[in-house]
Amino acid sequence: MNMIVKIYTILIALLIIEISDGEPDCKKPCYCNRMKKMAACNSRHLHYIPRLPSYVEQVKFVENNFTHLSRSFFQNLTSFNKINLLNLTDNFVLNISVDAFADFHYLNTLEISKENKLPIFSLKKAFQSLNKSMVNNLTFSGNEWEHLPLDMFIELKLSRIRSVSMTSNSLKDLNGGIYSYLTELKTLNLAHNEIKNINLSGLIVLEELVLIENNIHNVPTWCNSTGDSFVPQLKVLRLDSNSISEMNSSSFKCLQNLIQLRVDYNNFRFLENNTFSDLVKLDRLHFSHITRLKVIQETAFNVPSLKSLYFQNNGFHFDKGNKFNAKTIFSYCPNLTTLDMSSNFLPSMKKSQLLKLMFIPLTKLEKLTLPDTRIRALPFDLFPNMKFLKTLNLQGNFINGWNDSERIFGNKSSLKTLNLQANNIRLVNKTTFPPSILSSLESLDLSSNQFSCTCDQIWFREWIRENFESKSKKNNLTLISYPEKYACMFPSNLRSVA
Ligand SMILES: *[C@@H]1O[C@H](CO)[C@@H](O)[C@H](O)[C@H]1NC(C)=O
Ligand SMILES: *[C@@H]1O[C@H](CO)[C@@H](O)[C@H](O)[C@H]1NC(C)=O
Ligand SMILES: *[C@@H]1O[C@H](CO)[C@@H](O)[C@H](O)[C@H]1NC(C)=O
Ligand SMILES: *[C@@H]1O[C@H](CO)[C@@H](O)[C@H](O)[C@H]1NC(C)=O
Ligand SMILES: *[C@@H]1O[C@H](CO)[C@@H](O)[C@H](O)[C@H]1NC(C)=O
Ligand SMILES: *[C@@H]1O[C@H](CO)[C@@H](O)[C@H](O)[C@H]1NC(C)=O
Ligand SMILES: *[C@@H]1O[C@H](CO)[C@@H](O)[C@H](O)[C@H]1NC(C)=O
Ligand SMILES: *[C@@H]1O[C@H](CO)[C@@H](O)[C@H](O)[C@H]1NC(C)=O
Ligand SMILES: *[C@@H]1O[C@H](CO)[C@@H](O)[C@H](O)[C@H]1NC(C)=O
Ligand SMILES: *[C@@H]1O[C@H](CO)[C@@H](O)[C@H](O)[C@H]1NC(C)=O
Ligand SMILES: *[C@@H]1O[C@H](CO)[C@@H](O)[C@H](O)[C@H]1NC(C)=O
Ligand SMILES: *[C@@H]1O[C@H](CO)[C@@H](O)[C@H](O)[C@H]1NC(C)=O
Repeated sequence: MNMIVKIYTILIALLIIEISDGEPDCKKPCYCNRMKKMAACNSRHLHYIPRLPSYVEQVKFVENNFTHLSRSFFQNLTSFNKINLLNLTDNFVLNISVDAFADFHYLNTLEISKENKLPIFSLKKAFQSLNKSMVNNLTFSGNEWEHLPLDMFIELKLSRIRSVSMTSNSLKDLNGGIYSYLTELKTLNLAHNEIKNINLSGLIVLEELVLIENNIHNVPTWCNSTGDSFVPQLKVLRLDSNSISEMNSSSFKCLQNLIQLRVDYNNFRFLENNTFSDLVKLDRLHFSHITRLKVIQETAFNVPSLKSLYFQNNGFHFDKGNKFNAKTIFSYCPNLTTLDMSSNFLPSMKKSQLLKLMFIPLTKLEKLTLPDTRIRALPFDLFPNMKFLKTLNLQGNFINGWNDSERIFGNKSSLKTLNLQANNIRLVNKTTFPPSILSSLESLDLSSNQFSCTCDQIWFREWIRENFESKSKKNNLTLISYPEKYACMFPSNLRSVA
């Protein structure tokens, strides 16, 4: 008895020592997360940095009232924590002293955003106190900056900065020389600015350039005057949401390592022959929301390396033959494995063989996405040619059925996901899908069709009962949205009976 009491006393004493170990609590207006080693503080009444639990390594201060940032101001963070990420967003900062960051020995990510009263030169001078061998990425967003000083990053000359993001400012140009001090810069994100003029000289090791939503009218020049690339390592380029209206076969010279290109939401009217042909490593192309597109020339998609093409929401009229050549459109990119053509006008009813003509070169497709493309009939002998096709999405078209399902789907199928949601299918019977398809499929969506509950539908009813209502599941097939969206539409007296 005595022994147990003693042990308890010792345990409790140890516990108290543990708790009162000088470890501060995480008090409001701060919130901490021990698992993520994070803290966030948010209050307009907070005008100093409180002590935080020692496990905190990443801090975020949003909407506080800090005004002057100095070395002593950060003392609670730098003396008791090993901070690697410091995020200061919208804290009414007016100035930063030159030595402000001197005691952050572990800082690799610095963000200073939404500070429209902070002079750039104040921040620029403070860069000299950053630990140059640690600091890795910088973010300055929403600061209303229009122009950067030419020597903005001179203090970071010997740093190892790899990523700079200055989104949502009002920058008017991209002058590569400004970044040339950052000799290891791999990622530059200048989305949501007003950039019009671009000079890429000085970005020799850049791998990712993001210029979404700027004021770019012409594709920038990627080659210097001797025909060498300014950005020979560039792998990812995003020019979405600009005002570019023309591209041609010389637009993408000197980007021999580009893997991904996105030019969505621009004003192109013509997609010219060989526009992307210089991009010998291009793997993924996004060309979506180009609503003014009128003509696709014959060898526009002459990109043999291309694996994924996103041509969505262009409202392009593939149903009008004079705007493109069905036979050649995809014959120069036979390596495609993913093709998304959602929301365009594909050839309709009588022209279902045109569909076949378009897609027949694409024998390596694994994922074909064609929702909302006005398809009325499925072509014979097309899908059976796509030996690797795993996912076929035909949602939201006008398909009402087909005969000879083996010629539509083939008798040996790789297909795992088939989506026929919201078409006009009335009847599903024994011959609608070849047995081999039904055994290979993992997901089938026939929801929101126009099912008619007549005697012809009995097979489907029985099949559902056997496969989806009995306890012992016979296969791995999931019938998406069953039973809610499998109501009868005809005859009308049976409407909404499953
Ligand atoms: C450090 O934090 C303590 C309490 O959390 C606070 O009283 C003190 O003023 C802070 N020091 C600085 C320099 O902000
Ligand atoms: C922010 O702090 C300053 C003094 O440092 C004070 O004058 C101002 O009223 C504070 N702002 C708010 C919104 O609390
Ligand atoms: C910093 O905080 C802002 C506001 O919450 C957030 O949008 C941003 O992603 C954060 N940045 C980093 C690097 O954590
Ligand atoms: C800059 O900060 C110092 C204190 O570090 C302060 O005395 C000075 O007035 C500030 N300057 C401006 C322009 O806010
Ligand atoms: C900077 O970081 C390195 C670790 O990468 C460390 O060894 C060095 O002491 C730090 N220097 C300063 C001045 O904090
Ligand atoms: C910032 O740096 C860290 C560590 O070096 C890295 O893991 C992270 O992905 C970087 N963030 C950005 C936005 O590049
Ligand atoms: C681009 O900037 C470099 C310096 O960074 C300069 O030498 C060159 O003349 C500029 N090119 C143009 C076309 O302005
Ligand atoms: C063009 O770039 C190459 C390779 O970076 C370089 O050697 C050459 O001097 C550059 N030419 C001009 C005129 O800048
Ligand atoms: C596009 O290329 C095709 C095939 O090489 C050629 O027949 C056609 O004339 C070219 N179109 C234009 C407008 O140059
Ligand atoms: C097409 O794909 C094959 C295998 O995936 C690859 O070996 C070949 O190099 C690719 N062709 C081009 C032009 O990239
Ligand atoms: C299945 O329905 C189609 C019409 O959609 C019909 O032509 C065919 O004969 C039916 N097959 C069977 C086995 O009932
Ligand atoms: C269902 O899937 C599991 C694992 O994915 C597999 O082991 C099993 O053989 C499958 N059953 C049938 C009937 O295909």
